[in-house]
Amino acid sequence: MMDVVNPDIVLTKQLFGDDFAWGVSTAALQIEGSCDADGKGPSIWDTFTRKRGRVLNGHNPTIACDFYNRYTEDIDLVKTLNIPNFRFSISWSRILPNGTGEVNQAGIDYYNNVINYCLTQGVEPWITIYHWDLPQALEDKGGWTNRDIVGWFSNFAEICAKNFGDRVKNWMVMNEPAVFTGAGYFLGIHAPGRRGLRNFLPAVHHVVLSIVAGARALRKICPGAHIGNTFSCSHIEPYADKPRHIDAAKRADVLINRLFIEPILGLGYPTEEISALKGIDKYIQPGDAADMRFDFDFIGIQNYTREIVKYSFFTPYIGASLVKAEKRNVELTDMKWEVHPPAIYHMLKKFDAYPQIKKIIVTENGAAFPDAVVDGRVDDPKRTKYLQTHLQQVLKAKQEGCKVYGYFVWTLTDNFEWAEGYHPRFGLVHVDFETQRRIIKASGRWFAQLLG
Ligand code: BGC
Repeated sequence: MMDVVNPDIVLTKQLFGDDFAWGVSTAALQIEGSCDADGKGPSIWDTFTRKRGRVLNGHNPTIACDFYNRYTEDIDLVKTLNIPNFRFSISWSRILPNGTGEVNQAGIDYYNNVINYCLTQGVEPWITIYHWDLPQALEDKGGWTNRDIVGWFSNFAEICAKNFGDRVKNWMVMNEPAVFTGAGYFLGIHAPGRRGLRNFLPAVHHVVLSIVAGARALRKICPGAHIGNTFSCSHIEPYADKPRHIDAAKRADVLINRLFIEPILGLGYPTEEISALKGIDKYIQPGDAADMRFDFDFIGIQNYTREIVKYSFFTPYIGASLVKAEKRNVELTDMKWEVHPPAIYHMLKKFDAYPQIKKIIVTENGAAFPDAVVDGRVDDPKRTKYLQTHLQQVLKAKQEGCKVYGYFVWTLTDNFEWAEGYHPRFGLVHVDFETQRRIIKASGRWFAQLLG
């Protein structure tokens, strides 16, 4: 009966305690648009989306939600929704058009305006330094496969800390390293579209070193800051109770849930289960072990679903494959992900079990459903139910003593969903991408009421 939550408990924010951070998360590339305004350089996503067949329906992030020009309107929405914390990311190539070298003052001014507007509205800014939009100029030099990126990234983190750290107290160094290295450097389905272990393994190691270097730069410049990093995670279950499926599930767990958090906690890379991962040793230099760990103030976990994993002889390196949710006769979101609220409970328990983790914040959770505007309204009961049932699981974990201290919905407005373009709508607020008109969805009104 472990997965059952008490349906009679009516959710209130008080149940989570006064020190629980409620928020909403976004990312620069997905909302800002203005991809070459005021001196911004191109990012790998600007380049990738110009190539045919990479993004569904040929969509691109050139305009997105036009947050660059409409940030006051959107931060007003955060306030209207009673959401006290707003998470957004910094576009590296807006600050450093070439990734290194000269700083673009217009980029600094823009983020200062966003931060200052949040503060005047009583909304606390939470910054993610890197949410996947690498400057194209750095990708041209090898991107995350080039070890020099550790220096390039810590320089960027330093610039962010120096310019924004006087007002921004909450920071996340990078968003979901497993996703941008896995999809962008192994599978080639996200920018920059690289494939194979020879790209993936060096990228993994340089990302780990960069997360730590970035966190140290922040700590040095802003000693009092609350510093975290966010990690994607999915609850994994074997297809059947058979040793070969159980072992396959363990290997998938390494790649999906353990590969980045464990070295950062000082546990080293989890290479025992997947021998191909041992190839990472080639990129590790003497002295690296000390530069792979950081004592984060909090760990952000981002969970959307669970995965069922089965043994697969034909899948190279891991001998495991995901059993698609579409084939499992379960409720699906518009991403074709299973709706499975206990997944977030299991992930909270899993991360809570690492004694090195001091505090967990759910920095993303949410769902895409096919919303429709009817008479100027968007009724999205499935999203409201998704959020409620996931929050019940968070509460259950918390009541069992799990150190979870925050929950951020993904996301504020419908936006550019990476390789899926504008089709999946995750927002609490509907966006008409022709007119940029915003409509608060019923789920947004529900969340506002919860936080009111
Ligand atoms: C990412 C977001 C993304 C969301 C939904 C997370 O993996 O951080 O950028 O839009 O999930 O796919």
